[in-house]
Amino acid sequence: MSENIILIGFMGAGKTSVGKRYANEYQIPFLDTDEYIEEMAGKKVSQIFKDSGEEEFRRMETEAVRSLFQKEGSHVISVGGGLPMREENRKLLKKLGTVVYLKVSADTVEKRLKGDTTRPLLMKENPRAEIERLLALRGPVYEDASHLIIETDDKDTEVIIEEIGRKVHQAKRGDSK
Ligand code: S3P
Repeated sequence: MSENIILIGFMGAGKTSVGKRYANEYQIPFLDTDEYIEEMAGKKVSQIFKDSGEEEFRRMETEAVRSLFQKEGSHVISVGGGLPMREENRKLLKKLGTVVYLKVSADTVEKRLKGDTTRPLLMKENPRAEIERLLALRGPVYEDASHLIIETDDKDTEVIIEEIGRKVHQAKRGDSK
């Protein structure tokens, strides 16, 4: 059986950095849907948004998730912050492995992404308001899409990794969220 671990959560939650460290520690290959899409398209996510629009990017995300079923063995997979918003994607992710929601507050997101120009959705006059709006909309969806929830505010990556390892182990034994 596949033992994939899938990290979901808002932009700036640390999905990619936590995923890479976790994969390194447990010697499991790491995959990232944004990286997959960038390789397929031959351009950065922000350029895809500019050239083809968000809808086209969302279509590519679903294609990326579907392609993950072709991979052999276990992986740590980080997915873009908006990917779980499509119901089809949520169903696929839950089939693919253990879905871990890295939960983060608006304050932390704002701090971490200050000056960032790679997230087209936050290139707004008032990014803080957009972070709050999207977090309110997406929070319940992330919760619904996940098997496990990890609070990440004010925690070091090492602590988060240890918590994921422990909770994934517990979940396999049948304990709940
Ligand atoms: C998005 C999150 C980004 C990227 C794109 C859209 C979103 O990924 O997929 O900019 O809708 O939240 P990260 O969550 O890795 O920043």
